Formats: sequence, structure tokens, C-alpha cells
Amino acid sequence: MHELDQIKAPVASYVDDFHRQFASILATKSEWLEQAIQHLNASTGKKVRPILTALMAGLVGSREPSPKSIDAAVLLELIHTATLIHDDVIDEAKTRRGQPTLGAIFDNRVAVLMGDFVLSSALIGAIALGDLRIIGIVSAIGRELTEGEIRQAESADLVRLDEANYYEIIYQKTAVLFRSCAEVAAITMEATPEALEQAIQIGTALGMAFQIRDDIFDYYRSDVGKPTGNDLREGKVTLPLLHVLLELQAEGKAEPYLQLLEDKPITDEAVERLTALAFEAGGIDYAWQKLYSYIEEAKTLLRTFEESPYRSSLLALADYIASRTH
Ligand code: IPE
Ligand code: IPE
Ligand code: MG
Ligand code: MG
Repeated sequence: MHELDQIKAPVASYVDDFHRQFASILATKSEWLEQAIQHLNASTGKKVRPILTALMAGLVGSREPSPKSIDAAVLLELIHTATLIHDDVIDEAKTRRGQPTLGAIFDNRVAVLMGDFVLSSALIGAIALGDLRIIGIVSAIGRELTEGEIRQAESADLVRLDEANYYEIIYQKTAVLFRSCAEVAAITMEATPEALEQAIQIGTALGMAFQIRDDIFDYYRSDVGKPTGNDLREGKVTLPLLHVLLELQAEGKAEPYLQLLEDKPITDEAVERLTALAFEAGGIDYAWQKLYSYIEEAKTLLRTFEESPYRSSLLALADYIASRTH
């Protein structure tokens, strides 16, 4: 059995409901949109966020997730989907989930509108839940995500080397959504304030680890269903290289490498050299250490809940986030 199938077993029937609702909320009168939505449904992602949402609801409620938890999972995955559509436009990526991106099939102008359609559908889902706290959380996600992406572009342009700035950006662009999955799950189960706070911290730690894993992928040339080497080509210095450059900078030896990042467009040769540097000077190892410290943080918090199939699966999900191969 696929690792994620095993992890989602305690909430498997809910994940099926999730798929049905996800498809129906995106009904459209446009032929192009219909084609795009079919493409999205056919090349479905890992569904890590809905699995997290359903399991977290089970954990904090000590019972099966409520229908509201599933409604919430649908709208949060719609936000994720819209973000990917927009992110691929920004990153000029031609593949996603092993398939052409919407920008490659149609063009980037149409892809932006399609992302907006999916995002607006998520907002309708949020209103349907009829809970002002959830509407507030969902609105905040949009702001955090876009601010995170803008700060990332800004930092790339200025070749800003600052580890705290890196963590803030990955928190905004990725961990906030994971955090919100956990938070909204707890709200839909009417969790105690203590359990809500724990859920928020677990979701955040998992989200931070998830993005560091993603950033490590970018330094390899293996097939992960989307382009690798893209971050560096765009001047995005993620944790592995960032760590090495900061160390070199402290010794006054970073200049030649910074020059490679400043000369735009960044050449393939520069990408190769910087990638090699990240490996040779211990940057990849350093990123793995940080990743594992977030995974351990999440697992320690999870263990404060009583034993249950939800808890076991969430512990396995934490391991999966580190060990996943795409
Ligand atoms: C990709 O997310 C975007 C990041 C936060 C790194 P996923 O890796 O969850 O994408 P899918 O939905 O499984 O394709
Ligand atoms: C992920 O950023 C966060 C998003 C807001 C989508 P990336 O640019 O690293 O995501 P991928 O690698 O394209 O999936
Ligand atoms: Mg991208
Ligand atoms: Mg990435």
C-alpha cells in the first residue's frame, strides 16, 4: 500500500467525500475552465493538507471528523490549488505533478484567471461554513501567502542573505496554510483552547518542515513531477545554499558566489556551481537538521495527546513529510 494511503486510513471515507465535494464546487459554464478543472482533477496532488485536516479533527475531537471538517478541508485545498496555479505563472514552470501546467496548456493570462476562479470558489466554501473565525483565517491566508511570495521575489532580487528572513518567508508562503488546516480542523470540532493552540503549533511545524523538504528537492536532478533547479535559476537562495553563503560571508569568502547570483540572468553553469557548493560545504546536511528539528517538534506535541489511530497516523504523516520522494 502507498504510504499515504496507510496514513489516511482512519479518515479514508472522509477523504472520498472530500474528492466528491472538491469536484462539485468547481462546476463551471466555461469550456476552457471545464477543461482546466478536468486536468486538475486528473493530475491530483498528494492531498497532504486534506489528510492533515481530517486527522487533526479526529485527534482534537477524539471522534470522527465532522462534515464541517471536510467542508473546511475542501476549501483549504482549493486555496492550495489556486496558489499552485499562480505560483507556476510566477515561476514560469511548465510542469506540475508530472503534467503540463495550465500556463503551458492555455497561456499565462488564462492561467491567472483560472487561479482566481479557484480561489473565489474557496471563498464561497468559507462563507458556506458560516463561521466568522474561519472566514477570518481564510482571508488571512491569502494575505500571508501573497506577502510571502512577494518577499521571496524581493529577497532574490536584492540577494538578501538572512536566515531569519528565510524562515519568515516559508512560514508565510507555506506553513500558514498547514497551520490553518490544523486550526480550522480544531474549530470545526469545537476543541478546547488548549487543544486549538497545540493544533496550531503542530500544523506550523509540519508546514515549515514541508517547505524545507521542498527546497531540498530543488538541489537534486531527480524527477519530482515539477522542475528542479528552478529556485536558483530565479535567484532564490533557499536554506542549503543560504547557510553556506552565510558561513563564507563571515570568513569574507562569499564574494565570487554572490557575483554569480547578481549577474542576471543566472546561467546554467552558475546554477551547477552553486548547487555543488551547497552539497560540498554541508548546506544540504544543515537543511536536513533543521527539517528534522521541526518534525521532532511536531511529534513531541502530538505525543501530548492520548493514543489513538489519528495520533498514530499524524506521527506517521510527520515522518512522511521528511521522507517523501515527491
Ligand atoms: C507544493 O505543495 C507547494 C509547496 C508548498 C512546496 P505539494 O507538494 O503539497 O503539492 P501537491 O498538491 O502534492 O502537488
Ligand atoms: C511553494 O513555493 C509555496 C507556494 C506558495 C506554492 P515553491 O515555488 O517552492 O513551490 P513549488 O516548488 O513550485 O511547488
Ligand atoms: Mg514554484
Ligand atoms: Mg519549490
